[in-house]
Amino acid sequence: MVIFGVTGDLSRKKVMPAIYDLANRGLLPPGFALVGFARRDWADQDFAQIVHDSVREHARTEFREDVWQQLASGIRFVAGDLTSDESFDELKRTVDELDANRGTRGNHAFYLSIPPGLFPVVVQQLKRSGLADSNPDAWRRVVIEKPFGHNLESAQELNNIVGEVFPSGSVFRIDHYLGKETVQNMMAIRFANNLYEPIWNANYVDHVQITMAEDIGIAGRAGYYDGIGAARDVIQNHLLQLMALTAMEEPTSFQADSVRIEKEKVLSAIVLPSDLTAHTARGQYAAGWQGGVEVRGYLDEDGIDKKSTTETFAAVRLDVDNRRWAGVPFYLRAGKRLGRRVTEVAVVFKKAPHQIFSPASTQELSNNAMVFRIQPDEGMTVRFGSKVPGTALEVRDVTMDFAYGDSFTEASPEAYERLILDVLLGDPPLFPRHEEVELQWKILDPILEHWTTLGQPEQYASGGWGPHSSYDMMSRDERMWRRP
Ligand code: BG6
Repeated sequence: MVIFGVTGDLSRKKVMPAIYDLANRGLLPPGFALVGFARRDWADQDFAQIVHDSVREHARTEFREDVWQQLASGIRFVAGDLTSDESFDELKRTVDELDANRGTRGNHAFYLSIPPGLFPVVVQQLKRSGLADSNPDAWRRVVIEKPFGHNLESAQELNNIVGEVFPSGSVFRIDHYLGKETVQNMMAIRFANNLYEPIWNANYVDHVQITMAEDIGIAGRAGYYDGIGAARDVIQNHLLQLMALTAMEEPTSFQADSVRIEKEKVLSAIVLPSDLTAHTARGQYAAGWQGGVEVRGYLDEDGIDKKSTTETFAAVRLDVDNRRWAGVPFYLRAGKRLGRRVTEVAVVFKKAPHQIFSPASTQELSNNAMVFRIQPDEGMTVRFGSKVPGTALEVRDVTMDFAYGDSFTEASPEAYERLILDVLLGDPPLFPRHEEVELQWKILDPILEHWTTLGQPEQYASGGWGPHSSYDMMSRDERMWRRP
């Protein structure tokens, strides 16, 4: 695997540690080699030291010297410039030498952990130098990280650029949410069981809430985040993928193409509300307190323009125009500096059509709900009513919980472990195809355009649950956000 962008945060915190974790779990062949490419004056040992430090700091599994030594023996570094022919020729020599000495046999994955503006030059160089040429005995794959463009048009351009060099089956777009154990479990729970599907439709479901709340701010990523905002950063990809998995029909199999076809059908059936002001909300975090610590507002963060209109909170209402979901709104919200870190998908059911108990006995009974707890505290909760012990007949909400930690002893792998392994195995079900990415932009583009006409987003207190407009959006529909 060749990584471009080895000096970035993502490589250091996620990609390199995940490679070590795979090696530690015995899932990489002994000849596996890792090549870093960057404009740094490093020798192989300097790069190996960087990988070592990142593994020590961020790997999920324990550090074992023998595993590390095996991995380190295949670590190489190519110092070079992305625009230079010589640098790529040097890279070619390096991987050829590894093929000969370590038995990698021409099987190469190129991980582009670089800004999308640099994709054209890198894929062209991979083509020119012959690095992208596959043959029946050797695969060449390219891994790309979001953002896949900043709107539909730019996403299409990017797809064309990459598609000119790599056939679509060799392009792996990372949406790391799809690598999360609990996200995959949504499919297992829906389609391996008989309990849920009969009620998974407009006859029983009132609405769905998908929440991705983070307690952190932009965490030193001003350069990436400003001008991007919450909707492009996580709704365009992670939340719309969660929505697609919640709403899709059963695929004919778990093969990549079958799953993608079903996700695409849902994404193409999504319709926007007619009044975008009333049914969307956005906000920007203001100074406040979080976990007992005083935190700065977004506009005071280092590197942020004082007049920035970038939203750090976004909420939207979407509908799915098909028979299964007619009249069932999906509410999506994501934000930074909220009350706590939690991602969940809550399917909220309609009230029982008839109640034999008096209104007084059921006043503390709310709608039944099924909640996929994506993180932290991974699992699932079912909320329903039960009789309160005693002589009176009073019904109140209770919950039934499934927690990964209680039912399984093995810890879940990190999303990047699963995804990198799938790249090496050439197994694509967990990677969105370019059609999905484009459909996701198609949904978001009109909302983003509308927001540019609205000026400054509403400020919300750090440590709270977002701007008032987000609550107003729900109360207009006579509903309430869950308090996770
Ligand atoms: C990334 C976003 O895709 O997901 C970040 O760019 C966000 O802004 C991160 O913090 C959250 O990932 P996780 O796995 O911690 O939920």
